[in-house]
Amino acid sequence: MTILVTGGAGYVGSHTVHYMIEKGYDIVVFDNLYMGHREAVHDKAAFVQGDLLNRDDIAAVFRDYPDIDGIVHFASHTMVGESMQKPWLYLRDNITAASNLLELATEHDVKRFVFSSTANLFDEPESMPIRADNKIIPGSPYGESKAMIERLLHWMDVIHDLKWCGLRYFNAAGAHPDGVIGEDHTPETHLIPITFQVALGQREQLTIFGDDYDTPDGTCVRDYVHVLDLAQAHVLALEAIKDGRSRQYNLGTGNGYSIKQLVDTAQQVSGKEIKHVIGDRRPGDPATLIADSTAIKEELGWAPQFDSLEKILETAWQWHSTHPEGYDS
Ligand code: UFG
Repeated sequence: MTILVTGGAGYVGSHTVHYMIEKGYDIVVFDNLYMGHREAVHDKAAFVQGDLLNRDDIAAVFRDYPDIDGIVHFASHTMVGESMQKPWLYLRDNITAASNLLELATEHDVKRFVFSSTANLFDEPESMPIRADNKIIPGSPYGESKAMIERLLHWMDVIHDLKWCGLRYFNAAGAHPDGVIGEDHTPETHLIPITFQVALGQREQLTIFGDDYDTPDGTCVRDYVHVLDLAQAHVLALEAIKDGRSRQYNLGTGNGYSIKQLVDTAQQVSGKEIKHVIGDRRPGDPATLIADSTAIKEELGWAPQFDSLEKILETAWQWHSTHPEGYDS
C-alpha cells in the first residue's frame, strides 16, 4: 500500500516517515520545503516538491501515484505564537491547504486519513490531564485551524465515507536515536532547540515567557512526548481506521514539566549551564497542557518508549550537539 505523507520533510513528518518505512510502507512525501528539509526525507521514500495551496500540484501526485490508499497529513503552519501575529497564515492557508487535499483525496476515493492535530484545541481544560472528549476551545488561530480541519474531516466521513483519525499531540520533542534526523526550524521558536542553542553557546540566553502563571513555579507546564512515540501512534491509527470508525486521540506521556524543570533537566543532560531570564508572557499560551492518553493505549495498544523527560532530552541533545547548524551542519 502507498501512503501519501504531506509535510514528510518536517520535524514530526520526517520521523514518522522513517518509522513507517521501517514497518514496510511505501511512502510518497509531498512537501513545499517551506519549513521542511530535503535531507530529512528517508532515501526509500519518493519525494515530490509541491504546495497544497496549488491544486495542480496535488492533482499531479494522484496522477503519478495512482495507488495511494491513505494519507497522513502533517503539512501546516504550526506555531502558536506566530498564529497570534499572522492569523491568516493559519485561518486561510492551513484550512485551504487541507481543503484542497481533501477535495482531491475524496475524488480519488482515498478512504483513510490520519491528521496531525494539536493540544492547542484545549484552551479551557475541563480536567487535567486532558481527555480527547474535552470540549474544544482553541487557544489560538493555529488551534482554530486544526479544529476546523477536524470538522472538514467529519463531513468527508459523512459524505464520502473517509475514515480519519485526529492525533492531538502535546509537545513533540526529541530526535531519532540513530542521530540522522532531528528538529530544525528556521526561524527557531521552540523551547527545546532554543534551550540547547544556549547550551552550545549559539545564543546568549533563553527568555522564559512568563513566570506568573497558575502553576507550581509560575512557568508554563507542558507534556513533552517523543517524536518516535508519535510516529508509532500514526501507524496504529492508520491500521485502526480500517475497521470503519473515525476517532480522535490525545497523545502525551501524561507527565507535565514546567519550563524551569525542563531547563534544569537540559542542564543535567548537556552538562552545560543554560542562562535564562524571565520575559513577558507569549500571547496564545495556556498555563498547563497535559494529555490523558488512556484511550489510545487501551484501544490501539500505543506503548510509548520514551517515558521520561531525561530520555527525551538526551536524544534531542545528541542531535543538536552533533548538528549545531541543523541540516546545514
Ligand atoms: N517558550 C519560552 N521561551 C522560548 C520558547 C518557548 O518560554 O524561547 C515557552 C512557551 O511560551 C511555551 C513552552 O515554552 O510555554 C513551549 O513552547 P514551544 O514554542 O516549544 O511549543 P508550544 O507549546 O508553543 O507549541 C508546541 C507546537 C505546537 C503544538 C503545541 C501543543 O509548536 O504545534 O506544542 O502543545 F500545537
